[in-house]
Amino acid sequence: MHAVVYHGPGDKRWEEVPDPTIVDDTDAIVRVEAVTICGTDLHILKGDVPTVTDGRVLGHEAVGTVEQVGAGVKNVAVGDRVLVSCISACGRCDYCRRASYGQCRGGGGWILGHRIDGTQAERVRVPFADTSTYPVPEGVSDEATLMLADIFPTGYEVGVLNGGVTPGATVAVVGAGPIGLAAIVTARLLSPSVIVAVDLADARLEAAERFGATATVNSGRGDAVEQVRAATDGLGVDVAIEAVGVPATFELCAAMVRPGGRVANIGVHGEPATLHLEELWIRNVTITTGLVDTYATPTLLRLVASQ
Ligand SMILES: NC(=O)c1ccc[n+]([C@@H]2O[C@H](COP(=O)([O-])OP(=O)(O)OC[C@H]3O[C@@H](n4cnc5c(N)ncnc54)[C@H](O)[C@@H]3O)[C@@H](O)[C@H]2O)c1
Ligand SMILES: [Zn+2]
Ligand SMILES: [Zn+2]
Repeated sequence: MHAVVYHGPGDKRWEEVPDPTIVDDTDAIVRVEAVTICGTDLHILKGDVPTVTDGRVLGHEAVGTVEQVGAGVKNVAVGDRVLVSCISACGRCDYCRRASYGQCRGGGGWILGHRIDGTQAERVRVPFADTSTYPVPEGVSDEATLMLADIFPTGYEVGVLNGGVTPGATVAVVGAGPIGLAAIVTARLLSPSVIVAVDLADARLEAAERFGATATVNSGRGDAVEQVRAATDGLGVDVAIEAVGVPATFELCAAMVRPGGRVANIGVHGEPATLHLEELWIRNVTITTGLVDTYATPTLLRLVASQ
């Protein structure tokens, strides 16, 4: 089969690789029919994720059809159309029992396109198939379902829910790529009063407006913190969601949060960022980090299917 193979920073190739086979009896082999790329793949290609090594097939999101299942797979059958989650879950370890699947200690977590071969391929081996795939909902397109492999659960869990968005809250989303846009869409479920999108690219800011941002700031033009404060009674935001993954944007989020607020970091970082504790200690600010767990995927699938 063909796959996108990582050969070190800046070097990816579409090349011939062996077909995947069942290794453990809880595996499924899925024929990939829809796949996307994540900002994390871009971080891998920058060299920010050194646990990805030469020869790895990239990709951790897919919709496809099950072609084979191991003898231990109970809920997934050959021919089923499934969403392959970016997070694999053993379902048995202490973290999985707390729905913290991203931190799975039983061989799961974020492994696809990271520690094992991923989905940017014609076929993929999906470990723990029963607890790492979801049936594609009736009447929902492959493309819409695919957004729930990583993008939407990440924006919602790691951005909106970790950030504690509440009705009436003021929110900034720094980075209006797919993840930031998903954070904007799912923040609206909780009725914030203000959502400011911050990005360097006007096209992304236009997309953010279409998805529900109430104000936009191009941080390449002028002082972004001043502009965010101007949009939020001069105080800054209750919730600053970082969806880029570079030191400058984390530091920007910490500078624009109001006293008592929260900074929810989503971005994958490859370099240290400066934490200005000398300014933050007195401001009752909470900072969260997180790898997506995908515990919200069933909820998000219901929301998409109900549209
Ligand atoms: N924590 C998790 O579980 C998790 C899961 C998925 C993705 N991520 C991370 O989320 C981040 C966003 O992912 P994505 O797919 O949307 O990425 P993306 O690269 O498509 O989008 C990033 C956006 O940030 C903007 N940007 C870049 N530098 C900026 C700056 N200095 N100031 C303002 N905006 C800037 C870009 O113009 C772009 O619109 C990435 O770091 C990705 O690795 C984390
Ligand atoms: Zn991802
Ligand atoms: Zn586990």
